[in-house]
Amino acid sequence: MDHNSEAVSKVTVPWILERKLHGEKLTCLTAYDYPTARLVDEAGFDMILVGDSLGQVVLGYDSTVPVTLEEMLHHLRAVRRATRRALLIADLPYGTYHLSEEQALASAIRCLKEGGAEAVKLEGGRKRSGLIRRLAEAEIPVMGHIGLTPQSVHALGGYPVQGKTLDSVHQLLADAQAVEDAGAFALVLEGIPRELATMITRRLRIPTIGIGAGPDCDGQILVFHDLAGLSFRPPAKFVRAYAGVAVALREALAHFREDVLTGRYPDDRESYHWPAALREQFEQTENAPGAKSPRRS
Ligand code: KIV
Repeated sequence: MDHNSEAVSKVTVPWILERKLHGEKLTCLTAYDYPTARLVDEAGFDMILVGDSLGQVVLGYDSTVPVTLEEMLHHLRAVRRATRRALLIADLPYGTYHLSEEQALASAIRCLKEGGAEAVKLEGGRKRSGLIRRLAEAEIPVMGHIGLTPQSVHALGGYPVQGKTLDSVHQLLADAQAVEDAGAFALVLEGIPRELATMITRRLRIPTIGIGAGPDCDGQILVFHDLAGLSFRPPAKFVRAYAGVAVALREALAHFREDVLTGRYPDDRESYHWPAALREQFEQTENAPGAKSPRRS
């Protein structure tokens, strides 16, 4: 069926909130380009996040910090063209919402107007509550993100699991509540103990989406390349690779190269051919008296 004409029941923010009321799980995955987004959308995932993990898994940066808004918009537009059913969420890259609320609003509005996003995600708890409120007032649905926040890599000194001391537990409980109170429609919980994620999930009305936060969250998200086995970084504890795409591609590449070197690719069935009439015509002109012999350089 034609992807563009296929009837789909579109995922919306109210629908996502309702899933939690009905105790139904939410599925979410990242995507960064047309083919991956199309596969994810057609597989029936509820939300697609164009994550700033883009920086590491697609652009080859060491962290998410260097990703720019222009890079995000470039990938967001490709994902938009492929996405019919899922709610499309744009991650606001580091530095695009840290200067002022005006800057954050401008960045988010570009994601909606130029990138076709239907929501934005940003990292941080209580310190972002004013900003989340402001975005919500501007009719921009916001997904929060607390726990291990990769944009804080320099402040955290790496990617340590959060919520492992009593103080950190209290901080994160307060952060989660602040994000909900500010008007976010969902909250990503990354890299925190299962016990804490369960507690936050029970306390909030908005759905929690876990990544490295155990099975009791309202939904789960993974990075596409981790799930596909197409990542060059050592997998985190929570990553389950459901395919071995890098291995399959390595084999395919070696096979193609070998076939070219040995003349096995392409074969005659993979070649275009003259129609019989053209062959005849050509042979007649070649054999005609006075036909020029082939030019030699
Ligand atoms: O950038 C990203 O991909 C993310 C998700 C993993 C939550 O923030």
